[in-house]
Amino acid sequence: MARLRISEVLKAQKIGEKVTLKGWVRAFRSNRFIQLNDGSCLQNIQAVVDFEQFDEALLKQITTGAAIGISGQIVASQGKGQSIEVEVAAIEIIGEAAPDEVQKTVMQPKKHSLEFLREQAHLRFRTNTFGAVFRIRHGIAFAIHQYFNDKGFYYLHSPIITGSDAEGAGEMFHVTNFDLAALPKNEDGSVDFSQDFFGKPVNLTVSGQLEAELGALALGQVYTFGPTFRAENSNTSRHLAEFWMIEPEVAFNDLQDNMDLTEDFLKYICRYIIDNYAEDLAFLHDRDQQEQKAKPEQERNEFGLIDKLAFVINNPFERITYTKAIEILQNSKPYKKKKFKYPVAWGTDLQSEHERYLVEKEFKKPVIITDYPASFKAFYMRQNDDGKTVAAMDVLFPGIGEIVGGSQREERLDVLKKKCQDFHIDEKEIWWYLDTRRFGTVPHAGFGLGFERMVMFITGMGNIRDVIPFPRTPQNAEF
Ligand code: 4AD
Ligand code: MG
Repeated sequence: MARLRISEVLKAQKIGEKVTLKGWVRAFRSNRFIQLNDGSCLQNIQAVVDFEQFDEALLKQITTGAAIGISGQIVASQGKGQSIEVEVAAIEIIGEAAPDEVQKTVMQPKKHSLEFLREQAHLRFRTNTFGAVFRIRHGIAFAIHQYFNDKGFYYLHSPIITGSDAEGAGEMFHVTNFDLAALPKNEDGSVDFSQDFFGKPVNLTVSGQLEAELGALALGQVYTFGPTFRAENSNTSRHLAEFWMIEPEVAFNDLQDNMDLTEDFLKYICRYIIDNYAEDLAFLHDRDQQEQKAKPEQERNEFGLIDKLAFVINNPFERITYTKAIEILQNSKPYKKKKFKYPVAWGTDLQSEHERYLVEKEFKKPVIITDYPASFKAFYMRQNDDGKTVAAMDVLFPGIGEIVGGSQREERLDVLKKKCQDFHIDEKEIWWYLDTRRFGTVPHAGFGLGFERMVMFITGMGNIRDVIPFPRTPQNAEF
């Protein structure tokens, strides 16, 4: 008999059907009721065993975590909690779970903390919470490809190994095949990179944007979706050293078009998950409610998880300039009462406390902040006519902060060359990028969505480490 997935069987509800199912035991009660899960959905299927029909030795092997196969008939369930169950005719033990003393406590079917689970690589995936998170993570990735494909974008694979530092923040991981204990040196004592694999220093990409721009200026509209790496030493609940980014880039778009695209795109993803992942989302919604209850009242979210997504879909994002944001902050209560830790003044970057105030207190919805001072934004952003600001945009989400960063790009060669000088970027290093401004340059714009931050927002998980299968953070690259 061909194996069916538990999700299919629960959906079909075919009383009388003979099925074979394979999965992992979540619980085995009273030598009679097996809760079986195969990862296809949140719900377990209940398999009912008549213990008199089976060897005691076999039944002993049915422990939490063991992999088994069962065959039997679908019947209407007598008990509460499920409408159908499997009347077991045959059992196959596929992989025993025989925990040692240490693992025994780990394997208890009880609620473990998220921190604890991060250290139990095998168990983490088997929990309801992480099952739901990773199914939804897949759903978001799929929705992203669907969205761009429907809109006529082409998926462009930007390189992972690159010589450029697109963001200019110098937070790169170097890539080399040198023997680090015996580096070849130049006469002046510096490392001789001409002998390295690529003949020059290279690093893991921090962003695929510069390459995407080349694609957009030929294919019209492209997007990247790949891993990006940043060696920023920020041990926060929002930062990873390895994260995934989606970077659309569109020829002939200006900043307004860019904001419209971002907003439509983010709303589409939320809608897709509500429509296609109702069961997992409902589970995470309840989980979030419980988490909220455990918090002090003033820190609780105003909305439940599903209401929060619906709110994002149904309301226009607030759009304000950086200059306006500073004005609002300087007129705010926390500013006047000196509650902000960091200064608020035109020309200084917004800190997360300021962003949170704008999103969570002032507007209570997603906010797009535009036209930041040129000094703390990247070299490629288009200079505004005021000579002080650039056509940048950051999208801020409640509970997350910055989820998207983007801009209209500087398409004028002379202005861009001047920017390179100001930012100490050697023109010889990015000649290939400057060439796009020499041969049929056009206005264009794009943005980068931090994939894990979007997964956090949709799943309600509070720590970015808990929305990526194998998190990489400072001092941590286990598994
Ligand atoms: O704002 P960022 O640095 O923008 C860029 O890299 C541009 N090249 C994008 C573009 O215009 N094509 O990063 C974009 C987003 C941020 O808004 C944030 O959501 C996410 O990437 N991000 C991180 N996510 C997790 N861990 C980190 N260390 C992150 N750094 C940025
Ligand atoms: Mg940014």
